[in-house]
Amino acid sequence: MTDESHDAIESLFTESRLFPPPKDFGRGSAMSETLYRELLVEARTDYEGFWARLARAEIDWITPFTRTLDESDAPQYRWFDDGTLNVSANCLDRHIAQRGDKPAIIFEGEPGDVRVLTYRQLLAEVGRFANALRAQGVKSGDRVVIYMPMVPEAVIAMQACARIGAIHSVVFGGFSSESLRDRIVDAQASIIVTADGGHRGGRIVGLKAICDKVVDECPSVRAVIVLKRAGNPIDWRPGRDLWWHDVVAGASTECAPVALASEHPLYLLYTSGSTGRPKGIQHTSAGYLLGTIITMRWVFDIREDDVYWCTADVGWVTGHSYVAYGPLACGATMVMYEGAPTIPDPGRFWQICERHRVSVFYTAPTAIRALKKHGDDYPRAYDLSRLRVLGSVGEPINPEAWMWYHQVIGQERCPIVDTWWQTETGVHMIAPIPGITATKPGSCTLPLPGIDADVVDSEGLPVTAPDKGGFLVIKRPWPSMLRTIWGDPERYRETYWSRFQGRYYVSGDGARRDADGYFWVMGRVDDVLKVSGHRLGTMEIESVLVAHPLVAEAAVVGRPDELTGEAICAFVVTRDPRPTGAARAARIAELRAWVGERIGPIAKPAEIRFADNLPKTRSGKIMRRLLRAVARGETVTEDVSTLENPDIIRQLGDPETE
Ligand code: PRX
Repeated sequence: MTDESHDAIESLFTESRLFPPPKDFGRGSAMSETLYRELLVEARTDYEGFWARLARAEIDWITPFTRTLDESDAPQYRWFDDGTLNVSANCLDRHIAQRGDKPAIIFEGEPGDVRVLTYRQLLAEVGRFANALRAQGVKSGDRVVIYMPMVPEAVIAMQACARIGAIHSVVFGGFSSESLRDRIVDAQASIIVTADGGHRGGRIVGLKAICDKVVDECPSVRAVIVLKRAGNPIDWRPGRDLWWHDVVAGASTECAPVALASEHPLYLLYTSGSTGRPKGIQHTSAGYLLGTIITMRWVFDIREDDVYWCTADVGWVTGHSYVAYGPLACGATMVMYEGAPTIPDPGRFWQICERHRVSVFYTAPTAIRALKKHGDDYPRAYDLSRLRVLGSVGEPINPEAWMWYHQVIGQERCPIVDTWWQTETGVHMIAPIPGITATKPGSCTLPLPGIDADVVDSEGLPVTAPDKGGFLVIKRPWPSMLRTIWGDPERYRETYWSRFQGRYYVSGDGARRDADGYFWVMGRVDDVLKVSGHRLGTMEIESVLVAHPLVAEAAVVGRPDELTGEAICAFVVTRDPRPTGAARAARIAELRAWVGERIGPIAKPAEIRFADNLPKTRSGKIMRRLLRAVARGETVTEDVSTLENPDIIRQLGDPETE
């Protein structure tokens, strides 16, 4: 651990409130205190037996597996690898007899349109689209990029890929054309599935137009399938572009699920790391599916009559595990909402909860903070009495937001499950069991049964002293873990396994454990930022900034932000003299737009400061710790005598410096 990262996690923050599980929560739950204890003991005493038993119980296998874990090619771990299954059949076909007419998806568009798809209807739509993909020549193992709004067809496309063994790679609709292009090229996708546009924030996001800008630069793409969603005018390339409604028109609803090996890749999902290039996290079939199912049961306590709503977009891992797969694999009814939480007003989420009788609600701290800001009247105007479990994900939740969630949304009745996990882990790793685990605002509490998480020091030794920071690691492979980085196994090994010689999976987060063993995640120890829960690499933003013709150098750091958790602060050296006055404002606007166009609006720096140069050591290394202090508005107390140009600190510290 570098000095810098060590400082970042040596937080002295203490939160001592403890919320015991509500007394009558457990009635009707599949989980009990006894079962929970048994699971913990079983996982500890017979690790492989534990996972094998769960995999047999939870998954419908086509060919049963006989081998549980193969570690011979570590860290390319293999789980249940001689078994075959189909993930889509586990999410759809297996429910038809029992709950064919049960709503699978209750969709609400931003304009207010509502559409319900039962399991039977969803299966038929998935079958039709799977056949349509086949008719376009898509075979098992081919990559399909999905660039869609939050509409049922996004899930239908994902499930259709799973049905025929195609590997989907969903790109978040908020990413720009260039980000989309890089992902298509890296995955060598043959098909793009998109929509004319989606409704978001009262506007139409023209997804097809964004695709159009770059498809010519992606020679692997044979066809672009376009869902008509927003009805906005679009350009059309005959021969390449196909309407969704046309390709499914003649297709049969019957498409037999293909038997796929447990380790067959289910999807790629690109995420940011500490380099300039996003990495394609690769998940496989059986282990991943198992993880989504057990966490739906354990952490969300999902029951037959629940209405479950996860607000995450399918462009993020949360929208994979807890929208497209987990809830369906458990036969749950889920709400899917297309738009922004504040349209037409900040009561929209609570109105949806009332209208569709939501009982399990899962969202991000950034949304909670944003909605809290609008006051209690919005949630109080709606009937939230059906809610029974509230979840949080994506970044540490500050105790103040936690308390509001608990008191105003949960009405002090609903346990809050603060779930720690990552794109790479596939599913929840550290989280409370509602009704069993006592919670503390801001702590994700304890590792789930079978998850050997720990906090270790720079030597890899467990940090035993309470509240002392260290690296958050996972000490044994688990079924839903990533298998590799698409096309770059070396980077996989290097990023996640090299720090402790292959012994532990290194999450990149710093954490501490308190005297009760509860985990408190302190944030990233690498150059990854969490802005409104979205993961962004500082290097990615820097390389986009320096690609601007006027920029000579750039350094990007995060600073705490009340609303977005972290905010992006960029320090920029221009080729021309440092801009001042009106030129400064114009340059800021230009650079923000530049980043927005190249990565996406979420990556636009909240603040850009210009300087004559950046603080560097004599060996030429940018002093990021110093920049972080400057961005936070702290007085720089450290010795800057080793700096090449100590005066620069004053200039950087005053954003308005003329
Ligand atoms: O820093 C942690 C933070 O989000 C990172 C993973 O981001 P991503 O792969 O985009 O996945 C987000 C959805 C799982 C982690 O390394 N993080 C996620 N959940 C929490 C969290 N930090 C604190 N508490 C959490 N509950």
